[in-house]
Amino acid sequence: MTSKEIREAFLSFFKSKSHQIVPSAPVVVKNDPTLMFTNAGMNQFKEFFLGEAQSKFSRIADTQRCLRVSGKHNDLEEVGIDTYHHTLFEMLGNWSFGDYFKKEAISWAWELLTEVYKLDKDRLYVTIFEGDEKEGLAKDEEAAGFWKALIAEDRILLGNKKDNFWEMGEMGPCGPCSEIHYDMRGDVERAALSGHTLVNADHPQVIEIWNLVFMQFNRLKSGKLEALPARHIDTGMGFERLVRAIQGKTSNYDTDVFQPTIRFIAERSGIAYGADEKTDIAMRVLSDHIRAVSFAIADGQLPSNNKAGYVIRRILRRAVRYAYTFLGFKSPFINELVPLLAQQFEGVFDELIQQQSFVQKVVLEEEVSFLRTLTTGIQRFENYASEHRNIAGDFAFELFDTYGFPIDLTELLSREKGLQVDMLGFQQALQEQKERSRAATTIDTGDWVLVQDEDESVFVGYDYLEANTQIVKYRKVTAKGKEQFQLVLSVTPFYAEGGGQIGDSGLLISEVGERVSITTTKKENGLTVHFVDQLPPVLVGDFKAIVDKQKRIDTENNHSATHLLHAALKQVLGEHVNQKGSLVNADILRFDVSHFAKISYEELKQVEDIVNAKIRENILLKEERMVPFQQAIDSGVTALFGEKYGDYVRVITFDDSFSKELCGGTHVKATGQIGFFKITSESAVAAGVRRIEAITGTQAYAVIREQFELVNKMKELLSSPKDFVSSLAKLIEENSELKKEIEQNIREKSLALINDLSSKFETINGVNFLAVQVDLPSGDAVKTLAYALKGAMEDVFLVLGADFEGKPSLTVAISDSLAKERGYNAGAIVKDLAKDIQGGGGGQPFFATAGGKLSVGLGKAIARAKDFVI
Ligand code: SER
Repeated sequence: MTSKEIREAFLSFFKSKSHQIVPSAPVVVKNDPTLMFTNAGMNQFKEFFLGEAQSKFSRIADTQRCLRVSGKHNDLEEVGIDTYHHTLFEMLGNWSFGDYFKKEAISWAWELLTEVYKLDKDRLYVTIFEGDEKEGLAKDEEAAGFWKALIAEDRILLGNKKDNFWEMGEMGPCGPCSEIHYDMRGDVERAALSGHTLVNADHPQVIEIWNLVFMQFNRLKSGKLEALPARHIDTGMGFERLVRAIQGKTSNYDTDVFQPTIRFIAERSGIAYGADEKTDIAMRVLSDHIRAVSFAIADGQLPSNNKAGYVIRRILRRAVRYAYTFLGFKSPFINELVPLLAQQFEGVFDELIQQQSFVQKVVLEEEVSFLRTLTTGIQRFENYASEHRNIAGDFAFELFDTYGFPIDLTELLSREKGLQVDMLGFQQALQEQKERSRAATTIDTGDWVLVQDEDESVFVGYDYLEANTQIVKYRKVTAKGKEQFQLVLSVTPFYAEGGGQIGDSGLLISEVGERVSITTTKKENGLTVHFVDQLPPVLVGDFKAIVDKQKRIDTENNHSATHLLHAALKQVLGEHVNQKGSLVNADILRFDVSHFAKISYEELKQVEDIVNAKIRENILLKEERMVPFQQAIDSGVTALFGEKYGDYVRVITFDDSFSKELCGGTHVKATGQIGFFKITSESAVAAGVRRIEAITGTQAYAVIREQFELVNKMKELLSSPKDFVSSLAKLIEENSELKKEIEQNIREKSLALINDLSSKFETINGVNFLAVQVDLPSGDAVKTLAYALKGAMEDVFLVLGADFEGKPSLTVAISDSLAKERGYNAGAIVKDLAKDIQGGGGGQPFFATAGGKLSVGLGKAIARAKDFVI
């Protein structure tokens, strides 16, 4: 079977068992503070497990793209070194939400593996949870019982909490699990040593392929396990490992999932795969990492310097570094793998092929800039290595931190020069940095405390800005030493941050009139969470929740204008522009789009014209709340990459033939409310991504008024001319003419002075000496004069005093030869003379200046100058 057939067989098998097949969620997670990337197929169903929402289908199956590169499940450092871990992998999964449980999950898994995929029963092992006394959990006899009906008893092994109790993260849904392992060793090896002992022992040929989790608990922050409202099934099968088992390969990379990219890399590097351990690892790293990077970008996560963006940047840099060091790619190459991958995933995850050139361009730019950093870093290393006997830990850390050198690259470079790296010092510096960043980002979230058992988070904010409500639960959150509380309300008019729109703020008022401010509102899985600085004194009882109306209106103006902008951009620039990010608050709207060139001023004007025309048309909002997803797509709505949409979606339309978007945000009832739309800037945010910032409504009005006032003030200053711009241009021209005239005057004056002063030198001790006060307007003019006089004759010793409107100055100029032969030092002399004008200065032996405060002292200084030559 090809990998494609294997995937299809999985989905059709579960379809035949009445499962609904759903699309993969994006790999980048929004709305869940405990998770950066999708790390398991069950993530997108978390709220169903926790009972926060109800699934429309009780049985679901899919293939989910997952990333295990951060948090509890992090395989990054293994990837490439071994042959069965990946950054991005596909997880095939089937789910039951309160429907079937262990019996069906186990027997279907067995049926699929042995009857459809025809895996060898003699190579299969299963594990069950042995129980855990500390947690108060018993051995999973039930699962063992079901397995006994299918597989020889000696192939059922016990596993501990680490291997057989699956948890999504530090908190969240969890439960005992039963894993299925496959022994891929050759017959001779298997005969010599039974696979029993190798299960869960990190043997590269005896590996877990499927995990059946029996979801029963929720792990609380306190560490306690709480029973879930219902029991569920969550299974996850590593697609790449399954393909390897079915295709009988000893490495995931030998299957048709990775071979096309590996062959391409081998061809381009001129190195055969299998030629050498080091180059093999590098090829595996490249063919793996490009998948994670490409899908993260396609799902909306650009490489950047923080959070999820930084993780992606690090993965890509790891690939670049392997390509550079081991495969000899000194110029960008990895981006060329994107088209190959896009083709491979066509029909599975179409996000990539639809954005192929955008993704490739982003990867290319990252490669270019990291290769530059790498080159600078290597130069830095060379310099350091030429001056030091060994590589200090701090320096290795600097290379790591600033130039992205992993420690093994530093070690490699050092070895080549016969130098040693202080590994202990490096580890210490690394540890210190980790602690620093942990301290800076730790957010301590308490467990929810139930106040009243009510429905949660019924959102009424599309229709009302006020609602009667009750507090369902609350918890304490401490971030950067600051304490805050979060509330979940039974009913809420507060919009939770999402789709780029900021969360509402406002008030919560108790029956007796006690008020607390809600500072913002966010979504967490299915919950709407309200942030308050302090809890209301009494938590039970009725409350009124009131949204800050003006802020909401201003925000709505910006949000609706964003839709108009999006549509106008597609009209002016072309259909290829896709939304790559959006921020809507009460002050501004910021909109990022994929487009490869700067958006010209002319284009921006056209966009502005279209949006303002649509505002003046006062188009009524058409809001449809429960449109089946497919129906919405068929009607031509704009859906976004990287967004996870439900089965039913909300469609926001302003003029059927103009703007139709899937959107959960709040909007104006008619476009006229936006008032006015003004673009304030256009810039680049990343390769192929342009950013537009704009203002609307009251903000735009205020800015326009301010600009008017500014221009009026300027006009007044020019005595309100008829043509302001040409008057201003004339003024600027006159000013520069006058400057030229002044400079000419000064030059003439200096010239006259040269003639006049040349005759005043006296010869003392073979020195042509002159000390005099001159009337010139600037230091530059005096300097020009001094150089002219010095150049006009030999052996000059010249002191010029000048007074620039109360600021006295002294200049000493001495012929170079004289300074050398007699040891005169203009710098020292000017310092001495400057005492008379209460100032200081300095310079070189042949030219020096000083400024001071006491103009009347100039005479004395000039008189004293002679003392230096007699
Ligand atoms: N959640 C389990 C896992 O990730 C099974 O899907 O292994």
